[in-house]
Amino acid sequence: MKRYLITSALPYASGITHLGNVVGSTLPADIYARFCRLHGRETLSISGSDEHGVAITIAAEKAGVTPQEIIDKYHTANKLALEKLGIHFDLYGRTSSPLHYSTAQEFFTVWLEKGLLTKREDDQFYDSDAEMFLPDRYVEGTCPNCGYDKARGDQCDNCGAYYNQLDLKNPKSLISGKMPVVRKTQHWYFHLEKFQEWTEAYIEGHAAEWKDNVIQQSRSWLKQGLAERAATRDMKWGIPVPAEGAEGKVLYVWFEAVLGYISITKQWSLDVGREEDWKKWWRDADTNYTAFLGKDNIVFHAIIFPILLRTMEQDGYILPTNVPANEFLNLEGQKFSKSRGWAIDLLQYQEMFPEEQHVDILRYVLTMNMPETKDSDFTWRDYQARTNNELAAILGNYVNRVMQFAYKNFDGKVPAYDNAKPVTEHEEALQAAVANGVKLIAEQMDVFRFRDAATEAMNVARAANKYFNDKAPWKSIKDNVDDCARTINVCIQTANTLATLFAPLLPHTAQKIQSMVGSAVNVGEPNTTCLYDDAWTAAGNHTIAAGTQLGESVILFTKIEDDTLAKGMSMLGSPEKTEGEVEKPAEDLIDIGEFAKVKLRTGIVIAAEAVPKSEKLLKLQVDLGTEQRQVLAGIAKHYSPEDLIGKTVVVVANLKPAKLMGMESQGMILAASNAAGELALVSPLSTTIGGGAEVR
Ligand code: 2FM
Ligand code: ZN
Repeated sequence: MKRYLITSALPYASGITHLGNVVGSTLPADIYARFCRLHGRETLSISGSDEHGVAITIAAEKAGVTPQEIIDKYHTANKLALEKLGIHFDLYGRTSSPLHYSTAQEFFTVWLEKGLLTKREDDQFYDSDAEMFLPDRYVEGTCPNCGYDKARGDQCDNCGAYYNQLDLKNPKSLISGKMPVVRKTQHWYFHLEKFQEWTEAYIEGHAAEWKDNVIQQSRSWLKQGLAERAATRDMKWGIPVPAEGAEGKVLYVWFEAVLGYISITKQWSLDVGREEDWKKWWRDADTNYTAFLGKDNIVFHAIIFPILLRTMEQDGYILPTNVPANEFLNLEGQKFSKSRGWAIDLLQYQEMFPEEQHVDILRYVLTMNMPETKDSDFTWRDYQARTNNELAAILGNYVNRVMQFAYKNFDGKVPAYDNAKPVTEHEEALQAAVANGVKLIAEQMDVFRFRDAATEAMNVARAANKYFNDKAPWKSIKDNVDDCARTINVCIQTANTLATLFAPLLPHTAQKIQSMVGSAVNVGEPNTTCLYDDAWTAAGNHTIAAGTQLGESVILFTKIEDDTLAKGMSMLGSPEKTEGEVEKPAEDLIDIGEFAKVKLRTGIVIAAEAVPKSEKLLKLQVDLGTEQRQVLAGIAKHYSPEDLIGKTVVVVANLKPAKLMGMESQGMILAASNAAGELALVSPLSTTIGGGAEVR
């Protein structure tokens, strides 16, 4: 029998995982794993933190801490935030683990032995001030293709062109701000081109089942022709290159992160005390392997990772059976942008909406908007509408009506099902809807159409509501108690069926429904690689015995009021305004109480100096009347230190202290800036008001 291996792209441990990551890979991986387990399939689900690469070192520099501190912080935070969303992995591992190092180094050694790597000296940008070679993301310049002046070292965000770093015009180091010099450095280049034909056959062999976006992107890469790619980098942070003369060099993150799926499985094997178990998952043809990811990762999972696995052919490594990539999720019609704050991270969401129901609501709304075939949009209006009109009005209302009725009229016990009477037309219709739902949802799950699966599950809940209405038990209780009892029995069994059908999507809700209907099973519990009986196929069976005591009746979903929309909107930064666009609607407004939370005070600048190695920051000492504060302000391009001494400024006095370039900043100084990039400090009109005056 096939076993099911599921992986989700490893989020970088450089920040909190955001709704884009969740909807792109961790949530679909969890839904699929839960479905597979319920369907009686032997399943293993793996993810974890990607802990190397410039994403990490840049975040560490920004925060003025070490990369190790960054990954420790965000690995723990992301693991917890995902667990809170009911996203369960058998192991959420780390690529900084010793086992990952040795795994990646073993692969590299095999590549060396097989002649798949060539060592060569090449020109690269070098920052003489910072004394380091500059990885692509540390260089900015003008795109050689479209002229965009904020293009990255290897890729232009404006026109999408990929180029060689040295082709960038007016290059600037993002570390020192200076123009880098060109120096020779030695790297190991992996011969992807040797796998051109093999990869073409692999991709075309899957063209019928894989998603269009994956096939199209892969074909376009293959059409350009695979070329050799540097598998090493000049960096301190990363996995040391296991070769002679490789001091100061690490493996390029994309040549090791994907191997994390394997090393994390090894770690899981060790943790469960079955050291050799990982091999059956990765080196046995009976494994069906699905890798979930976002569209920006397609080439690495559909082309490079299979090639890396192929290099280990002699050990029987398997290849991905499917690589379902999601497109991007927009927010309120705009692209996600961390820098503009137009993003929602999971922690922010969980802090803003700590109530239990918001866990499954988010899972549901994200699933219903999953960017499966094209970019999709998350809006708070939709969040409200789906909660109120679907989760509360259809699913929640159904379960609630049935429970109320059973408590009121049958003493909180499952009433008898009199099977002497023939099956009625209404019962038949409901049975058909359930049978159809069970089958259809399973088919949709297996082709990763989770939106359709969720829609179909809701259709079964609709059919259940219709059955309740058609049977009108509030009438039969008066003149045909046996029929009424049978109706409520069927309704309770159907609630239990709904628990299973919704379990992959709404595990917490499924669990609640099952305890309400007195079921002995808990389909909401993710089990570790267990072999369930096939609970999915049995979902329509009536398994709750008459006479069973029902559990406590709880409301599954309460309606969301308009003020929740405002709360949701307050998580977003500034939208990108296109010319002529009007301000956002009233949802953006705050009340006076919210504004009053910000304590603004005047302050007098008593000392100011430049911050070494930073072209943006100035370090200021500000007198707030009763105390003196050190504030780091990103104004160095607009003011020189001596301009500022003696000036009165406005300080946010109750801001949590933050570390910038290793120094503490105890507040923030207000400044105005316009679209032309001009910046001016905000200052009171009076020169006598002094430091410490309240600004309101
Ligand atoms: O794009 C990203 O967020 C990467 N950290 C994904 C890595 S997936 C795999 F390589 F581990
Ligand atoms: Zn460009």
